Amino acid sequence: MSFDYQKDEQGIVTITMDMPNRSTNVVNMEFLDSLQATVERLVEEDPKGIIITSAKKTFLAGGDIEILYRFKEPIAAFSFAEVAKGQVRRLETLGKPIVAAINGTCLGGGLELALSCHHRICVDNPKTKLGLPEVTLGLLPGGGGVTRIVRLLGLEKAFPILIEGKNMNPQKALETGIIHELSNPEDLIKKAKKWILDNPESSQPWDQKGYKIPGGNPQKLAPKLAFAPAMLQAKTWGNYPAPEAIMSAAVEGALVDFDTASRIESRYFAQVVTSKEAKNMMKAFWFQMNQISGGENRPKDIPPTEVKKVGILGSGMMGHGIAAVSAMAGMEVVMTDADEKTVEAGLANIKDILKKRDHNIIATTDYNKLKGCDLIIEAVFEDRELKGKVTEMAEKVMEITGIFASNTSTLPITSLAEKSSRPENFIGLHFFSPVHKMKLVEIIKGKKTSASTLAKAFDYVLKIGKVPIVVNDSRGFYTSRVFGTYPEEGMALLEEGQNPRAIESAGKQAGMPVGPLALMDEVSLSLLKKVRLQTQKDLGRELPKAPGDSVFELMMSMNRPGKASGAGFYEYPDKEKKYLWPELQKHFPEKNRLSQTEMMERMMFVQALETVRCLEESVVTSIADANIGSVFGWGFAPFKGGTLQFINDYGLRSFVKRAYELEKKYGARFKPPKGLVVMAEKDQAF
Ligand SMILES: NC(=O)c1ccc[n+]([C@@H]2O[C@H](COP(=O)([O-])OP(=O)(O)OC[C@H]3O[C@@H](n4cnc5c(N)ncnc54)[C@H](O)[C@@H]3O)[C@@H](O)[C@H]2O)c1
Repeated sequence: MSFDYQKDEQGIVTITMDMPNRSTNVVNMEFLDSLQATVERLVEEDPKGIIITSAKKTFLAGGDIEILYRFKEPIAAFSFAEVAKGQVRRLETLGKPIVAAINGTCLGGGLELALSCHHRICVDNPKTKLGLPEVTLGLLPGGGGVTRIVRLLGLEKAFPILIEGKNMNPQKALETGIIHELSNPEDLIKKAKKWILDNPESSQPWDQKGYKIPGGNPQKLAPKLAFAPAMLQAKTWGNYPAPEAIMSAAVEGALVDFDTASRIESRYFAQVVTSKEAKNMMKAFWFQMNQISGGENRPKDIPPTEVKKVGILGSGMMGHGIAAVSAMAGMEVVMTDADEKTVEAGLANIKDILKKRDHNIIATTDYNKLKGCDLIIEAVFEDRELKGKVTEMAEKVMEITGIFASNTSTLPITSLAEKSSRPENFIGLHFFSPVHKMKLVEIIKGKKTSASTLAKAFDYVLKIGKVPIVVNDSRGFYTSRVFGTYPEEGMALLEEGQNPRAIESAGKQAGMPVGPLALMDEVSLSLLKKVRLQTQKDLGRELPKAPGDSVFELMMSMNRPGKASGAGFYEYPDKEKKYLWPELQKHFPEKNRLSQTEMMERMMFVQALETVRCLEESVVTSIADANIGSVFGWGFAPFKGGTLQFINDYGLRSFVKRAYELEKKYGARFKPPKGLVVMAEKDQAF
């Protein structure tokens, strides 16, 4: 039995969800059985009121993704939703006051259950999260969430909650009208009981006579609603069935009675939960994400470690961001730079990020202050000599057991470690910009990096709330190497005479956050040039000509390296505006127009194929790292679930066949690697 059932002397029943052998409560078959048995008993026993709470740290985590992932047939998913909702609806209409005593995080199905209660009281802990994040896994709140939120708040207020899937803290939930009361943990049940005694005749607003949806029904809102699908389409390019389904379920549901609305919701739920997009997203953002945070790539035999004091060398764009996120995680931080003025500027930037939050950061030019650091992260200019110098300076003062990390984006870690007196304690921690927003950190193992150094770096990344992927040292590591193929393909298309606007929209339609040329402008061609020169120097030979080279050379010769210089593939008349440089087409006249699909496939295939090469060369070593790294590192189409899942989604046999075709037409970068061909022949998948 998953629920504890207690009736007090006043006749109030407290149901405490407490699923055995699980850290959280989830909605699965066992849960539904317990719910049914409990509802039967409540009907029989006729209590004065009902309180629903949880014995776990969280209230109820929501639908069991293991089950949702397995639904293949919409009809099975439809019945699952209907069964769950039927029980909840019985409770809601029992004629007894029912209170959700929300003791901890309450997301998805958890909030849906709470919404079916007549009154919601939540512990006032800013860390507690409430929300309907289903959409982020490609799903729809099919446990009554759409129907009830719309009836509670009205369509306009409901849309952002349902379609953006953002979580809120209890205070925000109170302001939004999702909960009614806050409480300290000790008074939670007391308050719930008091509410029951004060409201013996309770029902939901939507079950009362004369009820109207707040803000008006869809007919009244028609002028506003008319734009909503178009606005959504502009954001999603039609790649995400879930937000579209949510919008339809909400609007259609608002036109009919509660029970019909609820059935409409189940139907849309069944449609999206069985979609390819939902499977891709559940696989990546649930299962693979859990594998990563569960430490799949962390050396198993090293006990947990804790970084207490972290030193940051360089307070520039990356350094101050790393200092801020470390301080937010409660670490003591010492941040240095070459001069007082720069380090002060870095500190001012940190204060902007931290707002009024307390922190323990020393900003200094004095390396002696780094004493006692168990981790030092270097984020000085991308200059091999300078990096070597600061490594030596820092190692003189840091703890002997401490580890040293470089945030280099391009220099091989093994070669940087040569400047270290303890190369086994040297590692790469590649952050992404802006650091406080980007979730990924690429951990790079050098040849000599020890397992305990890796474990410590891994634990640190988790502690600052980021997602660690672990890769082996190689040029461009994993993320920069694969990501670079996307803007380069954009340049190749331009070189071949494709329309720049069509190139950009093909990138976005394929699911990338920005077009390849806009992205190249962000990265800047000067950086690309610098990296290429460094690579030539390191390899001691010229690099072969690459597709798109003539574009690269022309843009450099016209002094248009990118956004930072105010001129690139785009013109930047001011901070907010940009438009494609009109002369692009003069220099690269249009010819041999390709279809949009052909361009989209080229852009996605280059990335997917380069990822397979990284896997074969052991640059990345896990499928989860490759997928999650691609989505969180450079925004690879989330609805495809990452670069390798893209191949699964396409089907390996079809992918290989298509790759051969592209190779024939456009060159060796599309040649499918041997291992992939073998996998396809054996009908395997990643
Ligand atoms: N910008 C990005 O998007 C990005 C992303 C990942 C990694 N990186 C890497 O991070 C590193 C830093 O990049 P950034 O963008 O923050 O550069 P930046 O130019 O903004 O900052 C570098 C800082 O290092 C400081 N510095 C120079 N000499 C120093 C010394 N002797 N001691 C201490 N500080 C010194 C500079 O004054 C400057 O503040 C580079 O290796 C870069 O490749 C950058």
